[in-house]
Amino acid sequence: MVLQPDRPDWWRDAAIYQVYPRSFADGNGDGTGDLAGIRARLPYLAELGFDAVWFNPWYPSPLKDGGYDVADYRSIDPVFGTLEEAEKLIAEALDLGIRTVVDIVPNHVSNEHPWFRAALAAPVGSPERELFHFAEGRGENGELPPNNWTSEFGGCPWTRIADGQWYLHLFATEQPDLNWAHPLVRQEHEEILRFWFDRGAAGVRIDSAGLLTKEPGLPSFELGVDTHPFVDRDDLHEIYRSWRAIADSYEQPRVLIGEIWVPDTERFARYLRPDELHTAFNFDFLARPWAAAELRASIDGTLAAHAPVGAPATWVLCNHDVTRTVTRYGRTDTRFQFSAKAFGTPTDRALGVRRARAAALLSLALPGSLYMYQGEELGLPEVEDLPLSTLQDPMHFRSGGTDPGRDGCRVPIPWSGEAPPYGFAPEGVEPWLPQPADWAALTVAAQTGDPDSMLELYREALRIRRERIGGEFGWLPADPEVLSFRRADGFGCLVNLGAEPVALPGGAALLLASGPLAEGGALPSDTAVWFEILDTRL
Ligand code: GLC
Repeated sequence: MVLQPDRPDWWRDAAIYQVYPRSFADGNGDGTGDLAGIRARLPYLAELGFDAVWFNPWYPSPLKDGGYDVADYRSIDPVFGTLEEAEKLIAEALDLGIRTVVDIVPNHVSNEHPWFRAALAAPVGSPERELFHFAEGRGENGELPPNNWTSEFGGCPWTRIADGQWYLHLFATEQPDLNWAHPLVRQEHEEILRFWFDRGAAGVRIDSAGLLTKEPGLPSFELGVDTHPFVDRDDLHEIYRSWRAIADSYEQPRVLIGEIWVPDTERFARYLRPDELHTAFNFDFLARPWAAAELRASIDGTLAAHAPVGAPATWVLCNHDVTRTVTRYGRTDTRFQFSAKAFGTPTDRALGVRRARAAALLSLALPGSLYMYQGEELGLPEVEDLPLSTLQDPMHFRSGGTDPGRDGCRVPIPWSGEAPPYGFAPEGVEPWLPQPADWAALTVAAQTGDPDSMLELYREALRIRRERIGGEFGWLPADPEVLSFRRADGFGCLVNLGAEPVALPGGAALLLASGPLAEGGALPSDTAVWFEILDTRL
């Protein structure tokens, strides 16, 4: 299989599409997306102009956390298809010029994974239990959890089993954490990497990449006072160096992409040193409000942090864990924060769409790679009124029902037609999460060929990006409420986040606008334009 050896650095400026397999396209008519559905839709992704696809987990899983509870890392869940089909999918995608990025989940396994089943069946102190973090509880009879840590999903990250021991799970109860101090854990994951690289995967997205190692002894700690016992520990870097050596051992080196939520940009950039990961998701950019100073600070901070390690930045607006962009940008508070998500937070859809269109042009024009979550190209909103009985996300359940969870951004894609399932599944089949009744205008079919649609904006922007945009980034002079920058090749981008229209720079030839221009050609509020810089003084 040939991974276009002519472009070994493809990941430095790639546009990568994120597929959530359960919700992309249902090929076999059971209401859940699958590999057959994805294979049938590959031409859509190729034609849109994406360089690679990252697939959320497709492994056998009891689905206690949307597939991030993996029972077998070397196989495909039967609901999605077979390993053979995955191999075909990887090859077919490549024939269309699309590389595959597989999701690797090293921090934890499913409680149905053979290792954890064996650990539960084995006695206290057994080698089987050493692969996980089993510990005695505190209190007179061990009735209190071993330490004061909290789960990333809220609540206590410890569960007690019948013989009195507790096991650690930083996420849901069904996701026991692996003990990364154990050589077998390391060896196993190195083999899993090779398994997928040998099948043609061009890279891996590493889930919860900043959490793997834990402070020996698993001590209680005080946030902000003690060194964090499980976030961003120094001993993680050695693991990623060994992974990089594996990735580099391939004739066409494979790529490591980290999911790292570390706010300190200098600490974040350490993962991107030349012998560690290639890139990591830019959550700083994703979480910022729609405000010029905030976005400018994020862009400057990102570029400054990446430069010393020679790594490209990434630009991300959305993924399967966060609020859909058009919904978030239509709110009064446009930041993304897990803690601020709540039922009933109002949003102005039209405003959100306008801003999301401008944000698309902004992020596609910045230097580095871009990740776009499925459905963003259609401007899908967060579905905030899913019937409670259909919700599946452990974040919802572990919040005691106050957090809506992440199901609202995972609703199946509308492809065509006037009513659910909108071509996602065969007529009459109910998708695993219900789709809204008012999505007919958002389908791929409805938007195709409509020059004002989000889909055509993305299509055109991706085309121009591929053909036209490159080189060093530099700010152009602009009002505080305006972001204006150029790339070395004479390409310019201007985004108006202020209330008043702004004039386009003199000597600019318009390439693309995210919305209609005001009278006299000025750029209205919440609108972005791409332009050719004709005036050499700019
Ligand atoms: C990552 C995934 C998220 C999952 C969690 C636990 O943050 O993106 O969906 O719930 O890890 O695996």
